[in-house]
Amino acid sequence: MPDPDTNLPSDSSRDIPAGPETQTPKSHTPPQANDASQRAVIIRTRGLKKSYRMGEVVTHALQGIDVELYRGEFIIILGPSGSGKSTFFNMVGGLDSPTEGRVFIDEVDVAQLNAIELAFLRCRKIGYIFQTYNLVQYMTCLENVTVPMAFAGVDADEARERGLELLDLVGLKERWFHKPIEMSGGQQQRTAIARSMANLPSVLLCDEPTGNLDLKTGDEIHKILRRLNVERGVTVLCVTHDHRLIGMADRIMWIRDGMIERLANRDEVTVEAGSIGGQENA
Ligand SMILES: Nc1ncnc2c1ncn2[C@@H]1O[C@H](COP(=O)(O)OP(=O)(O)OP(=O)(O)O)[C@@H](O)[C@H]1O
Ligand SMILES: [Mg+2]
Repeated sequence: MPDPDTNLPSDSSRDIPAGPETQTPKSHTPPQANDASQRAVIIRTRGLKKSYRMGEVVTHALQGIDVELYRGEFIIILGPSGSGKSTFFNMVGGLDSPTEGRVFIDEVDVAQLNAIELAFLRCRKIGYIFQTYNLVQYMTCLENVTVPMAFAGVDADEARERGLELLDLVGLKERWFHKPIEMSGGQQQRTAIARSMANLPSVLLCDEPTGNLDLKTGDEIHKILRRLNVERGVTVLCVTHDHRLIGMADRIMWIRDGMIERLANRDEVTVEAGSIGGQENA
């Protein structure tokens, strides 16, 4: 097997300061959905709106989202195509700015952050997982996982060690030297999950992470996400069209026409007979 020492990205691209210490992974039990005393808000939005203008046409993708999401929750987001789910993620993840309203992460107003602080948020606090795995094709599995660590100023030895540990967590340690083209879709997504955890983020935004995978492989991916949530205390927001995931979530959020149609605890939804939560989901 090739030596991982010889196959890491250089950390010369440290253009973002390291910032405060990395969080220490810890055993974690998510707060009980109904126990308000244990809840710490990690994401709060107020009057969040986003409109896109294309020539004469304006699309009101988000039309006023007010929500509080709690540290350690696993939230499933359902909603028809075009309802604003990815736009909501872009706002929460600091990838784009709202037309109106506010996003607070750990009670910090994202709009008030300067460019460096925003880069820190994107690099260290939030992990992203997309439907398309977005791996760098010419890099190995391990290099893909360690790239964000280089941006965060982690030295190469620690990056290799942490990268291999994360690959172990997603069951890919033995394949660290494979390039994306040599891996299945599920393996590529597992690599992307390991990469999203590179800087031990507080929040994972997963935008249809299993949209390109078969059901069985999708189940494996969801189990990994749930494990990260339970064992490492990462708050997970997961957009999906897979209703079977409702049993895995702490809360379920339905978005329709750029608004929250409903936000419910899992037990409220699963006890309802008939269709899931009585809501129609495209
Ligand atoms: N960059 C953009 N420019 C113009 N319109 C956009 C842009 N991004 C999204 N939209 C529009 O905003 C609305 C919400 O889009 P969004 O991608 O958030 O939906 P979604 O719920 O994620 O849908 P899907 O389930 O298909 O991924 C849609 O009408 C979409 O066409
Ligand atoms: Mg989307």
